[in-house]
Order: sequence, then structure tokens, then C-alpha cells
Amino acid sequence: MLFSAEEIAARVTDLAAEIKSTDQDLTRERPLLVVCILRGAFIFTADLMRALHAAGVDAEVDFLGLSSYGDARESQGRVHVTMDLQTDVTDRDVLVVDDILDSGRTLRFVLGLVQSRGAARVRSCVLLDKPSRREIEGNAEFTGFRAPDAFVVGYGMDVAGLGRGMPYIGTAPDEPEQG
Ligand code: IMP
Ligand code: MG
Repeated sequence: MLFSAEEIAARVTDLAAEIKSTDQDLTRERPLLVVCILRGAFIFTADLMRALHAAGVDAEVDFLGLSSYGDARESQGRVHVTMDLQTDVTDRDVLVVDDILDSGRTLRFVLGLVQSRGAARVRSCVLLDKPSRREIEGNAEFTGFRAPDAFVVGYGMDVAGLGRGMPYIGTAPDEPEQG
């Protein structure tokens, strides 16, 4: 186990407070738009939304389905949209929420997409950062934990589709030998 359910919950509460402290100018007329990257960030986003609400930030949410990994553990290098946003992001204050910042390709793709559609401000929040794996420079504005260079599973993150329901984050068992 890398991060227990209790550690995650405490960090999510802190992240919400950090986000709140930078968002003094958000109003009821111009609420924060949280963009949840599917599928890995769905549990993190659900908890973060509730923590934001508890901190006094009532945000809207929308979902962006992306794929880059397929069933492989290594990124295939391309990111594509599998399910687009329903919300017009023009002039919106957007917070992109993802599970893991790894090579950086996913985040670069999403930030580019949302910016090209005319968002007023785009920031990002990731639960885990694996800085040793970065290929494209850049960090998220808000980061939950630094993680080692190991494949992780749980709290929304999967290995070949499974393990997303685990309440804690653990390292995935080694891939079985071929043949
Ligand atoms: P990047 O585009 O290389 O930064 O990869 C980010 C995406 O890869 C994340 O949104 C995850 O979906 C996926 N990913 C990266 N590392 C892991 C891992 O250890 N476990 C599960 N998914 C991962
Ligand atoms: Mg993902």
C-alpha cells in the first residue's frame, strides 16, 4: 500500500482548502468549472467536489473521456477524446482534475484543448505526480502526493480495467511473464 484511504481523505481536504484560497474572485454568477478526466479521476473528483463544497466552493462539473493507454501500462504516446465535454468553456474558470501526472502528455493535451476553446483561466489538479517519468515539462498547480515510478492501482485507477474500487492506492503486481 502506498496511500491509505485516511491519508487520501486528509490530503483531499487540504487540496480543497488550497484551491479555495486561490479562488477569492469566484462568484455564484461565475462558478468554477471542474473538468474530470475519465476514467481514472472519477473517484478523486467526487471526493474533491465534496471537499470543495465543505470549503465553501460550489463548483460545476463536466467530464472529458480520454484514452492514451489502452490496456498497456506504457503510454502509447497519443491522446484522443473518447467522450467530449457538454459544457461551453468559453470565458470559464476551469480546473482540470486528473488522477496521475506521468509523461505529461494527457495534461498538455487537455490544457491545450480547453485553452483553444477560449477558457478564461485553466489550472490543473492531480492526485499523484510521478516527476521521474516526465517527458513534457510542466507541473499541476495543485498536487496531492508525489509517487514513485511504479504502476499504481486503486481509488479510481486501474490495471487493465480492474482495481478502481479499491479505497486505497497500492502498487500493482508485476506483469506476468509472456509465454
Ligand atoms: P501521461 O499522459 O503520461 O501523463 O499519463 C497520465 C495518464 O496515464 C493518467 O491519467 C492515468 O490514467 C494513466 N496512468 C499513468 N500512470 C498510471 C498508473 O500507475 N496507474 C494507472 N494509470 C496510470
Ligand atoms: Mg487517466
